[in-house]
Amino acid sequence: MAIEIIATGRAVPLRRLTNDDLAKQKQIDTSDEWIRSHTGIGARHIADDSTACSDLAVEAVKNLFSRAIETGAVGEKTPEELARTVDFILLATSTQDYYSHPSTSCIVQDRIGAVNAAAMDITAACSGFIYGLETVAGLLGISGKRKRALVIGSEVLSRITDWNDRASCILFGDGAGAVLVEKTAAPSEGEGRRGLVRSILAADGSGAEHLMVRRGGSRNPYRAGEVVDIPPHVDMDGQAVYYFAVKAVTDTIKNLVQEDGISIDDVDIIIPHQANARIVNAAGKRIGIPEKKFYLNIDEYANTSSASIPIALDELAGNGKIARGNLIMTVGFGAGLTYGGNLIVW
Ligand code: UT7
Repeated sequence: MAIEIIATGRAVPLRRLTNDDLAKQKQIDTSDEWIRSHTGIGARHIADDSTACSDLAVEAVKNLFSRAIETGAVGEKTPEELARTVDFILLATSTQDYYSHPSTSCIVQDRIGAVNAAAMDITAACSGFIYGLETVAGLLGISGKRKRALVIGSEVLSRITDWNDRASCILFGDGAGAVLVEKTAAPSEGEGRRGLVRSILAADGSGAEHLMVRRGGSRNPYRAGEVVDIPPHVDMDGQAVYYFAVKAVTDTIKNLVQEDGISIDDVDIIIPHQANARIVNAAGKRIGIPEKKFYLNIDEYANTSSASIPIALDELAGNGKIARGNLIMTVGFGAGLTYGGNLIVW
């Protein structure tokens, strides 16, 4: 039995904010040169005021359904028929439509007509998609009756960005990516193995302070009548996260390769969480992996947190840069602090 990704989709807001636009419009003391040289980011896409997390997620899933039907990846003929075959929806996000509940995945479930699907959100920040894929593999694996699931990463980070903090606001963008996962009869190990073959999921909660939205939770709730002087925005110690991230990426790649008994040369492409190109390059140098083995689209989208890996997967699948049988590695890190990776035979 294998857990295979059989279709992908993405949704990215049309509004594109370049580094120059950002410096001008938001009155931030920064420059295209600084942002590019420190992060590899050239632009980010920003949702309009009426767009929430579920809107981007629904669009990504609709695009996925169209592609799945077009390519013959599924037997169903219409998106409505396909939606009814989904058994589970897992949505990873840090920017839910509503604080606390309902889960955004339930809103998506209703809007796409996945009437037979259970739905839940997970919070693992930028590692959300990596955690989500492994979680769903477990859910499909232990139940005889569940066959198909959607794993979605969707973010409207522009809503929790402090646009006055030049060290963090340059980093983030909005977007969503989705994959349709199916339990198939293919082998998951040995000759001809397919699908998700292993994952590493890890956390270091001692670093929670380094990347946090401080307001709004039960630690620091809204109190009637107060003037909110610290809004619910991302508060980040960039350097601490940077050092953690380089080690997390390095360790995850090494451990995935070692645990699987393969060489890094066997891996066709590594899809890192798109947080900062310098983090990826530094990790690559440490282990001696050529830059071209990493797929980077951070120049266009910046850091879309849980959406960054599924957006990249959809781009690669759409433009034929990954083919059946390719060995793909994902690797990521984020608030929590969390980190991990997946090894997938496409
Ligand atoms: O998904 C996880 C999310 N978070 C991350 O991945 C963040 C990881 N960290 C980073 O990517 C980097 O630490 C940053 C990009 C956030 C910052 O880069 P850095 O090379 O670590 O810069 P720095 O914080 O050491 O700051 C260097 C200088 C400072 O000026 P002084 O004190 O040397 O005069 C900053 O004030 O750069 C200044 N600076 C900027 N200058 C122009 C910080 N942000 C900016 C900016 N434009 N946007």
